[in-house]
Amino acid sequence: MQNTDVPDHDPGPLARRFPSDFQWGFAASAYQIEGAVAEDGRGPSIWDTFSHTPGKTVNGDTGDVACDHYHRYPDDVRLMAELGADAYRFSVAWPRVMPKGSGSPNQRGLDFYRRLVDELRAAGVEPTLNLFHWDLPQALQDRGGFANPDIVGWFADFADVVARALGDAVTDWMTFNEPAVYAFLGHADGIHAPGLRHWPTAMRVADNELRAHAAAAQAIRAAVPGVRIGVAVDINHFAPASDSESDRRATDGYRATRDTWFLDPLFGRGYPELGVSLHAAAGHLEGVELERPPAGDLDYVGVNYYRQETVQALTDEPFDWLIEPRPGVELTEMEWEVVPEGLLASLTQVQRDYQPAAVIVSENGAAYDDQAGPDGEVLDDDRQGYLERHISAAADAIEAGVPLRGYFVWSLLDNFEWSLGYSKRFGVIRVDYETQQRTPKKSARWYQQLISG
Ligand code: FCB
Repeated sequence: MQNTDVPDHDPGPLARRFPSDFQWGFAASAYQIEGAVAEDGRGPSIWDTFSHTPGKTVNGDTGDVACDHYHRYPDDVRLMAELGADAYRFSVAWPRVMPKGSGSPNQRGLDFYRRLVDELRAAGVEPTLNLFHWDLPQALQDRGGFANPDIVGWFADFADVVARALGDAVTDWMTFNEPAVYAFLGHADGIHAPGLRHWPTAMRVADNELRAHAAAAQAIRAAVPGVRIGVAVDINHFAPASDSESDRRATDGYRATRDTWFLDPLFGRGYPELGVSLHAAAGHLEGVELERPPAGDLDYVGVNYYRQETVQALTDEPFDWLIEPRPGVELTEMEWEVVPEGLLASLTQVQRDYQPAAVIVSENGAAYDDQAGPDGEVLDDDRQGYLERHISAAADAIEAGVPLRGYFVWSLLDNFEWSLGYSKRFGVIRVDYETQQRTPKKSARWYQQLISG
């Protein structure tokens, strides 16, 4: 590490609020960092197609090279180890392992992840392996993607292949990252791959994600005994814009059609009644038959938390609500409201409503307009402050009885932020995209001290 000076805020007292076996980690995902999209037999994913379609991403950015992690993973693992990480949450690119999505696996793709997990373990960093962080093989999208019920079998086969190849070295598994974002932003709002705008399709996708999760969890357990299986769900803090009856109703509706839409079925309760009636009233269920999806059989829930979403009812019609930051409130570069106590609220709410066996914060972090010095140095006090306040809220959650076992900062590296391309930097390690040089930011040094504290 180039820089060893002590950050302004001593993280010692904060560190002491966590148990000694707490897992401190970093998170990233395949398409956002790997690059090497045509190497060693990898097939195209829907994000290759989408990002190469003019007008879909800021500056036409793509993941073709990204952080070149596919080649530089030993450096990245070394950096994590130097920062003291206990764990690393990454995703496996389905199109590397099965270039056409189904059929025989591509050994060279599996070999990459074998090298990665071996390198991690040799460095004392536990892998948390996530199977799906949105980069569906394009060949499967051509067959209907997640809207096709056959996806349940395709996904279970993929899970089985990865579990057999890596199960001896990986205890912590995740099936999905943010199923709501994948279904709704990709198939109803059209701002993520595959870029569709059709609610009934989005609802089928959501339903098949829940079924695919259950089938994959079964496949993993059958292949590897003693694993822990979770899902990463985005649970931001929803708050009504005012005390008015209509804003409060809109907030409840937003939650029931989005977060609870996944959480209730995952915990074996089927779809929430309020969510069903609102989706139906809005025409989202036209031609969609909903049956109760199988329960998730979860060993833990991963909570991805970033912000407060303030909900304002424009009319009393379902989905006629506006999600906009409150005026004057502190924002990140994403224009996301900074509300650390919302993390405490989200964690205690999950605990109260579902009593999961364990919880982790599977993503938390912030984009800021980093200014790099000549040597790549970034004094990101804003990000450091964001992390400090949110980690303190995570400590509050433990003290309130939430079985929180780990915290993963998003993200290890600056990376490809989906349709926003490289314009938003979430890393605690700066990436100079011209040279691929990595430089830990001040926030990374603070996090290192927290971990060692
Ligand atoms: C989450 C995604 C992750 C990253 C962060 C900023 O929704 O899971 O890939 O884009 O937001």
